[in-house]
Amino acid sequence: MTKALTALTISAALLAAPAFAETINIKFSHVVAVDTPKGQAAEFFKKRAEELTGGKVKVDVYPNSQLYKDKEEMEALQLGAVQMLAPSLAKFGPLGVKDFEVFDLPFIFNNYDDLHKVTKGEAGKALLAKLEPKGIKGLAYWDNGFKSMSANTPIKTPADLKGKKLRIQNSKVLEEQMRAIKAIPQMLAFSEVYQALQTGVVDGTENPISNFYTQKMHEVQKYMTITDHGYLGYAVIVNKKFWDELPADIRGQLETAMVEATDYANNIAKEKNDQDLEAVKASGKTEVTVLTPEERAAFRSAMLPVHDKMAGRIGKETIDAVYKAVSFQK
Ligand code: LMR
Repeated sequence: MTKALTALTISAALLAAPAFAETINIKFSHVVAVDTPKGQAAEFFKKRAEELTGGKVKVDVYPNSQLYKDKEEMEALQLGAVQMLAPSLAKFGPLGVKDFEVFDLPFIFNNYDDLHKVTKGEAGKALLAKLEPKGIKGLAYWDNGFKSMSANTPIKTPADLKGKKLRIQNSKVLEEQMRAIKAIPQMLAFSEVYQALQTGVVDGTENPISNFYTQKMHEVQKYMTITDHGYLGYAVIVNKKFWDELPADIRGQLETAMVEATDYANNIAKEKNDQDLEAVKASGKTEVTVLTPEERAAFRSAMLPVHDKMAGRIGKETIDAVYKAVSFQK
């Protein structure tokens, strides 16, 4: 009798076991190369998440728009086809959370220290909370860097970009920024930029140097100017339902992995951009120009009216919170 009961208990336990032992899979999709700040941080998160959960969580990272392009990945996250993304902050406007476009405002941050006053402070937290009604949980901000401009003709003044078709991300603020210098903004998915530059569909683009170099844009752009006119970075997001339904201990371990991956991302971002700038120069294919403070000031005054123009769209409260955090001076 006891033997039979024991056998029954064991088989019941065995039957029940697979449900508990099932691995939790996280698909993490992104659009950039592996050897970028975001690409490296995603790999780091995978490693730590798998280690800290003792293999109970498996993270599969899909880089380079392999799985989804910019727009599709957002939809896939909301539908639960992928669980984790790190879209650039510009890509939340089309989702209906326009406040994020505050990060696209030209010349709003002077440097990474300014940026961190927002991303590591209350204003940043309040922005992530705005994603929740969309079924999205914001976990962290990952840095990339400040954008440079490129084209096939030299860029020293805003007038040098007049009439040029310049690729932008899908952001109304970036559209206005390009119009402010009388360029023609062209919205394209990141995965399409290299070919568009190569075939002349667009004349130029803006991006941090790590994206420029790893997409080989230097092969199809003769000139790049370090304008540092705006910032491009990321919010790491998960499907909220997936996250909320995780066992609490696993969620805690993943939170720890995310904190570590965020430190890692933010430690390597500047260094990777600096290294890639050297690599662009060494390629001999793109001539790199550094602006004098006066030349850069000309870009600033041409682009600054975008702040007031877009205040209604972004939300005055959000802009004021960021201005306050960085002590912004017009
Ligand atoms: C872009 O579309 O230029 C960037 O958002 C790509 C990225 O994710 O860094």
